[in-house]
Amino acid sequence: MVVAGIDVGSLTAEVVLLEEGKILHYVIIPTGANSKTAADKAMDTALEAAGLTRSDLRYIVATGYGRVSIDFADKRITEITCHGRGAHYLNPAVRTVIDIGGQDSKVISLSDKGKVLDFSMNDKCAAGTGRFLEVMAQALEVELDGLAGLSNRAQDTVSISSMCTVFAESEVVSLIARGLPRENIARGLHQAIADRTAGMVHRIGLEEAVMITGGVAKNGAVVGALNEKLKTKIIVPDEPQIAGALGAALLAEDEIV
Ligand SMILES: Nc1ncnc2c1ncn2[C@@H]1O[C@H](COP(=O)(O)OP(=O)(O)OP(=O)(O)O)[C@@H](O)[C@H]1O
Ligand SMILES: [Mg+2]
Repeated sequence: MVVAGIDVGSLTAEVVLLEEGKILHYVIIPTGANSKTAADKAMDTALEAAGLTRSDLRYIVATGYGRVSIDFADKRITEITCHGRGAHYLNPAVRTVIDIGGQDSKVISLSDKGKVLDFSMNDKCAAGTGRFLEVMAQALEVELDGLAGLSNRAQDTVSISSMCTVFAESEVVSLIARGLPRENIARGLHQAIADRTAGMVHRIGLEEAVMITGGVAKNGAVVGALNEKLKTKIIVPDEPQIAGALGAALLAEDEIV
């Protein structure tokens, strides 16, 4: 019996196909301008790769900010619940989940059964999110996946005073103009994200083990700075971006038993 979880976020859309608790296939695609189109494309791509059609799916759970526009979903569940469930499946020892996506970041506290006990969320602006890092990568003239490497080569840290994406971008531009090393600026930016995220973790209380999900988990400099701040060793799953869709698929499986 195959079920699906779909997570349409602000920047990426993921589908996970699950068969008897095992991941059959998954896809990650950019969301683009239309979340409905992205949802259809992600689902069809995953089904085609698995040699299935929509009629083979017993149940579909949708999550993410675009979940309302996914008309083929049987149920819609919040990202908090889905990321929590996905993280628990990936490692049952996890009690704290940090999800940093494109436009929001959240910290979720889990029970030993993977149930959400508490959470803290920043969805007001791009500060401290993946979008913030994308804008800064552009200002520093480096590819997104080169940002962490740049930061790791820093000799020093240039602290960034503004957290607002718009103000921080002009601050970075003027720091570059003043001749400060881009490496040191990059480190300051990663520190700023880690500070902000650590504040959210402390608001709900740090309990180990800690896992990071969402695309920003692929940025080793954010993870490194967070490890230092939180004095822990954060677990980074192999595919951190699919945690929400995976949780949605597991919740879909719950519906049919
Ligand atoms: N290879 C990579 N290296 C560094 N960072 C990456 C990489 N891939 C993605 N990211 C980061 O991940 C972010 C997107 O994360 P994700 O796919 O979880 O967002 P989303 O789920 O669409 O957003 P949201 O949940 O906020 O709606 C990008 O903004 C970028 O900062
Ligand atoms: Mg997301």
